[in-house]
Amino acid sequence: MDKNIMIMDHPLIKHKLSLLRNKNTGTGEFRSLVEEISMLMAYESLRDLPIEYEEIETPIEKCSCPVISGKKLAVVPILRAGLGMVNGILHLVPTAKVGHIGLCRNEETHEPEEYYCKLPGNLEQREVILLDPMLATGGSAVAAVDLVKKHGGKDIKFMCILAAPYGLEILSKAHPDIEIYCGNLDRCLNEDAYICPGLGDAGDRIFGTK
Ligand code: PRP
Ligand code: URA
Repeated sequence: MDKNIMIMDHPLIKHKLSLLRNKNTGTGEFRSLVEEISMLMAYESLRDLPIEYEEIETPIEKCSCPVISGKKLAVVPILRAGLGMVNGILHLVPTAKVGHIGLCRNEETHEPEEYYCKLPGNLEQREVILLDPMLATGGSAVAAVDLVKKHGGKDIKFMCILAAPYGLEILSKAHPDIEIYCGNLDRCLNEDAYICPGLGDAGDRIFGTK
């Protein structure tokens, strides 16, 4: 496995993923699980966040203490389903800036179609975390990284809850410089380019549509 690809291996993530996959899990619980898994994955993927030192006075004495500089972080969900992951990250880094990329996969061609893009300024100075629960054919992920790079982003991580081997390979070949974090690597894609066993349509399950 490429050294830039990290597949999660924690019992808490595995357990929550199984609940997420279950077709009987309702919208409210599904949303909470996506948020919780995203928070657990952020713990892993944000290990290298830059630290600054601040002088703090404890009840005993003054000392120089490490604090994270959330201003350097840009969290960018791919609409719609990526929105479900945002709060999990913001619980940990509330000062992070948030951008949005709107992509919708064409039902017949499975190619992504862009409909929105608004990203924080000074992207070249920030660590950018792209969020999308599903990495299927990889078309949306590649297009989103292309857009972030076009706006100056250089330090980019992609976080997904489930990936198919095909999409993971497409993304890592197209953008070998980014780090990819996956909750689990699933078996394959079906004829409709859905991840198997997967969890179905992530956007529909998060927002209760369809
Ligand atoms: C889903 C998913 C990804 C994309 C993955 O979004 O959230 O963005 O498909 O598929 P790919 O790897 O084959 O590109 P969709 O386009 O269904 O939009 P939605 O989030 O608005 O439902
Ligand atoms: N998008 C989804 O929401 N689910 C899949 O399995 C593939 C693409």
